[in-house]
Amino acid sequence: MRKQIAAANWKMNLSYQEAETLLDEILEADIRLEFHQMAIFAVPFPYLIMSRSEVEDEMNYEVAAQNCHHKKSGAYTGEVSVDMLHSIGVNYCIVGHSERREYNAETNAMLADKVNLCLEKAITPIFCCGEPLEIREAGTQNNFVAQQLKESLFHLSAVEIKNIIIAYEPIWAIGTGKTASTAQAQEIHHYLRSVIAGKYGADIANEIPILYGGSVKAGNAKELFASPDVDGGLVGGASLIADDFIEIIKALK
Ligand code: PGA
Repeated sequence: MRKQIAAANWKMNLSYQEAETLLDEILEADIRLEFHQMAIFAVPFPYLIMSRSEVEDEMNYEVAAQNCHHKKSGAYTGEVSVDMLHSIGVNYCIVGHSERREYNAETNAMLADKVNLCLEKAITPIFCCGEPLEIREAGTQNNFVAQQLKESLFHLSAVEIKNIIIAYEPIWAIGTGKTASTAQAQEIHHYLRSVIAGKYGADIANEIPILYGGSVKAGNAKELFASPDVDGGLVGGASLIADDFIEIIKALK
């Protein structure tokens, strides 16, 4: 079975102490993940080492960085490179979250560079795509997200693309409390998988996890994740509350 993943995106929230407590509370729930299930915590950079050691002994619990720089190294004050993440044992990294695309002017081409650097170091990118409200209202969301995949991922070889996790996050649903309906999520996830199949073949497309993000909550996770092409979620707000994220992990197929 394809990997099913509950990924927490803490964004710029929590003190170090609060972060430790939240992880402790979630791990104390002692949810035994099955072989095909994973829980990933995308934490702020200063908490990566602590978080990694917290989850170290837990099967299929992992940490992720929320971003990396698109250049390998050099005079980029304040930035964090993929090599640095690799050197502290980070295995996953969010690439192209819509907040970074918007506030940090990240382009599809820049994200392709990030994806390449991550794969060179065997860091799995959690690649985000998703349309703004005006595109959804115009009904052109399929073309929009397909273009994001094409420009940032479709230079990869068939072997490389298998190491990508995709997160579909419609911008109008992020932090707004407005979730895509289960039918809307399934429809676009299915479409994304067909675009990948068109380029790499159905077998490879069927192996790639596609997570849904945008106001995933304890109360809607089960229904969303039940859709055949929704392989879990990338969760912001609800991942900051232990009980809620525990329910979300439990909602995985
Ligand atoms: P949200 O954020 O769950 O708070 O909507 C999701 C995300 O931005 O990854």
